[in-house]
Amino acid sequence: MRLVLVGPPGAGKGTQAEFIAGELGVPKISTGDIFRANVSGGTPLGLEAKRYMDAGDLVPDDVTNRMVADRLAAEDARDGFLLDGYPRNTEQAEVLDGLLEERGHVLDLALELVVGDDEIVRRLSGRRVSKSTGKVYHLEFDPPEDPDSPDLYQRSDDQPETIKNRLKVYAEQTEPIMGYYEERGKLVRIDAVGDVEDVTGRAMAAVRERTAK
Ligand code: AP5
Repeated sequence: MRLVLVGPPGAGKGTQAEFIAGELGVPKISTGDIFRANVSGGTPLGLEAKRYMDAGDLVPDDVTNRMVADRLAAEDARDGFLLDGYPRNTEQAEVLDGLLEERGHVLDLALELVVGDDEIVRRLSGRRVSKSTGKVYHLEFDPPEDPDSPDLYQRSDDQPETIKNRLKVYAEQTEPIMGYYEERGKLVRIDAVGDVEDVTGRAMAAVRERTAK
């Protein structure tokens, strides 16, 4: 299955991507995670991406598209993948379709996680990540054992001003891709508010329905 997970910052894409990709036996490819790994590693890609990420802006398309093309060319993505955080504008959606077409493939599903702005701000401001394991927690919804542990950090783009800009960028640049996928019959929207397991259940129901077609 070739699937993209779309939705606003903090909608739970990363959280759901783990479960869905695991269930489907396909690699989870998160552009945000790849950028963050490059930032931590101090690579040239990371140095370039960091200034956009810290501001809550999109990393330029040429850099992002090249990175995704390289990742999709890997052996483990040949028979399917779940993309988390890509595409994020119509140009990226077109590039992805082009990459798939070159290989004689098509995208099966664009799954949109629908969450309102107030909930997003709650989720992002309470998010904490473990330095040692990369596990994502939430102070209220999925609390770590020790919320004051020095192992936990808050993402630099989860500050109120940056969250505001990320939401603006999402509305202006990413929301139009829903129309792109709707026109092509690829879009399915699910309510992503509620327990993580319930949201996974809705997501997997949408995936199964698409697979059965
Ligand atoms: P990226 O990492 O993709 O960030 P994002 O899309 O803003 O999404 P997040 O990772 O913030 O949230 P999420 O939806 O994964 O939610 P999560 O599961 O963590 O991108 C970061 C930056 O990289 C971008 O701003 C941009 O600069 C750059 N970038 C990335 N891709 C790019 C691209 N294609 N083009 C250009 N630039 C790109 O959940 C959030 C919190 O909520 C967690 O604490 C979690 O525990 C909690 N939670 C999850 N589900 C629930 C639930 N059901 N109920 C309660 N809490 C929940």
